[in-house]
Parts: sequence; structure tokens; C-alpha cells
Amino acid sequence: MIVVGISGASGPILGIRLIEELLNLKERVYAILSGSARSIITHELGYPMDKASSFTDLIKTRTLAKNSSLLSVVDDTNFFSPPASGSSRFEAVVVMPCSMKTLSSVANGYADSLITRACDVALKEKRRLLLVPRETPLNLIHIENMKKAAIAGADIVPPVLGFYTHPKTIDDMINFTVGKVLNLLGKHHSLFQSWEEMSHNFIGE
Ligand SMILES: Cc1cc2nc3c(=O)[nH]c(=O)nc-3n(C[C@H](O)[C@H](O)[C@H](O)COP(=O)(O)O)c2cc1C
Repeated sequence: MIVVGISGASGPILGIRLIEELLNLKERVYAILSGSARSIITHELGYPMDKASSFTDLIKTRTLAKNSSLLSVVDDTNFFSPPASGSSRFEAVVVMPCSMKTLSSVANGYADSLITRACDVALKEKRRLLLVPRETPLNLIHIENMKKAAIAGADIVPPVLGFYTHPKTIDDMINFTVGKVLNLLGKHHSLFQSWEEMSHNFIGE
């Protein structure tokens, strides 16, 4: 069981693609969207997010996702839901993308939303917490907050481009970051070739 938070940074498609890949792997997923994330999905993907079931509908209508029955979408204010408690046996929390505001809340233990509460729970229960911060350039407050969260146990996984896989499309670039997150979660994927697979062209006898 993996909790995926989508906060209000540019790039909610990153979290959506992660959810799709986890569902394809038959993982149980709890998705939590902040209010800003819902507006940004409408803005960046052109998808209306005006009723509670919209996010599930979005996942169902995209052809990339199977097993949508394994997805639960939980309201960001619902502290009675499983991600709010350490007694729920979720394996990891991934916030993708992670806004600077959500990063700040996590770094400072300010758990006033379900996303930030789930992050707080992951840290206190020594479970995996992956933050995918999306902002550029970074100010010192952002950098200090990343350092604080990393010292507390979070993995900081910025969606930074890699060119060694020879990306051709925006999807290739998205898959690169999604694949990096899946690698850290120990989940199999074929979103991009590993260096091990690529490099046998360069090895001699
Ligand atoms: C179109 C749009 C794009 C945004 N992109 C970012 C971003 O990339 N990074 C960021 O930290 N904030 C971004 N913001 C601002 C956040 O949405 C805002 O700080 C909000 O309070 C974050 O709340 P949340 O973390 O609870 O979702 C963006 C806002 C809008 C409307």
C-alpha cells in the first residue's frame, strides 16, 4: 500500500503517472490531492476537477492505467482516513510533485492537511518518505527545508532531467522521474533503460 500525495506545484502529471504505474503493478494506492493540485490539474491537463470523483474518472479515462479498483482517492482534510495513522500499514508516502509550501510543512512538522500528516506519520514510523520538490530557482529557505526533511529521513528526489537515456518526448522525461521514484521504492519498471542495460554497448571484451 503506497500513499501518493499530489500537492499544488507544477507537474501533477508526474504524480498521475506514478499512480498509473503503481496500479499496473497491482499496488494498492491512496491518492491525496491538495486544493491547489486540483486547480493545477485543470490548468495543465485541461481536465475539470469539479466533483469528488473526478480524479478517479481521470485515472480511469487514461489508457495507461489498469486496476483502478485498487485506487482510493481521499480528501486532503480527511484525518479519519488510513493515511492519517501509523497503525495503517502503508509502505511509503510519495509527494509528487511537492510544492515549497508542503515541503515547509513537512520539514517543520506542521501537519494541517492529510498529505502533510501522512508525511509526518511516515517519518515517525520510519517508513519511506519520498518528496519530489518542484521549484526553480531555489531560495535558501527551500534548500534549508529540504535539508531538514532529509535529516529527518525523507528522500529528496527532484524531477531533474537526465540526458543519458536519450529522451525524445515529454513523456520520456516524465517517465525518467517516475522510474527514479519506482527504483527507490524497489518496484520493477521498464520506463527507461538502466545504465547497466545501456552500457553493454560500451564495454569491451
Ligand atoms: C499554475 C500554478 C503553478 C504552481 N507551481 C508551483 C510550483 O511549481 N512550486 C511551488 O512550490 N508552488 C507552486 N504554485 C503555488 C502553490 O500552488 C501554492 O503555494 C499553494 O499554497 C501550495 O499549496 P499545497 O502545497 O497545499 O498544495 C503554483 C500555483 C499555480 C496556480
